[in-house]
Amino acid sequence: MARPRVVPNPINFRGSVPIPISRNKVEIGAETGATLVNPIEKKSRTRIEEKYEPLVFKELFGNANPVEMEIGCGKGKFLLDRALENPGTNFIGIDRIIKWMRRRKDRVEREAVPNIRFMRAEARVFLNEAVPPESVSIFHVYFPDPWPKRRHQTRRVMTADFLRLLHSRLARGGLLEVATDHEDYYEAMKKTVAATAELWDNVRETRNERIVGGMNKTNYELKFEAGGKPLFYMELAKK
Ligand SMILES: C[S@@+](CC[C@H](N)C(=O)[O-])C[C@H]1O[C@@H](n2cnc3c(N)ncnc32)[C@H](O)[C@@H]1O
Repeated sequence: MARPRVVPNPINFRGSVPIPISRNKVEIGAETGATLVNPIEKKSRTRIEEKYEPLVFKELFGNANPVEMEIGCGKGKFLLDRALENPGTNFIGIDRIIKWMRRRKDRVEREAVPNIRFMRAEARVFLNEAVPPESVSIFHVYFPDPWPKRRHQTRRVMTADFLRLLHSRLARGGLLEVATDHEDYYEAMKKTVAATAELWDNVRETRNERIVGGMNKTNYELKFEAGGKPLFYMELAKK
């Protein structure tokens, strides 16, 4: 029997950080064609070892409409509102923790919203294995965990490697939309963008004003706005 390929802990490559994972294995296999390499046992909550078959969006949605994807979609509010407003576009929301999106996912399935799928997945593994190159029209990455303590900052998702990965999955003329409430993280992101400047045609920055999505907001965005926090937005256009 072929030995299963073990994906290293994608958050911390030293493998020392426990990653909370859903025990609901069906979510992964049912929608993404993924298999768990190690069945999750009650006490084994320390590693995500996922393996995905490449997704064929046309089969997933039954049409060849453009696909937008939100990474770390949390409760999925922004994406569902956007999907309802844009029936000619398909949407995929992923988060490594399923419980945030559970209620919206149930609603989407109950109401049979045809142009959106929510999936539990870890971003790097999912993008590497399941998402075909040059296939996504817009990536939305809103309020990624800022990991404010210096010793935790290596866990931040917006690294140069991650930007390269997103860029490779963006279709021609595709966009990457980013937002954060954390100024230090924003400054770090700008440095990362500068370090990958050869990938981007155009960089737009706004403060307290969403670039794409109009009045649609994420849950964190609404919470931060209500608290009067300054919010930082960036849009990168694929070169
Ligand atoms: C601060 S929350 C923001 C949620 C949502 N974007 C919003 O604005 O309301 C960050 C989310 O990213 C998810 N997340 C963090 N790292 C991730 C990863 N590597 N892959 C997938 N999701 C991740 C977390 O589980 C969490 O739901």
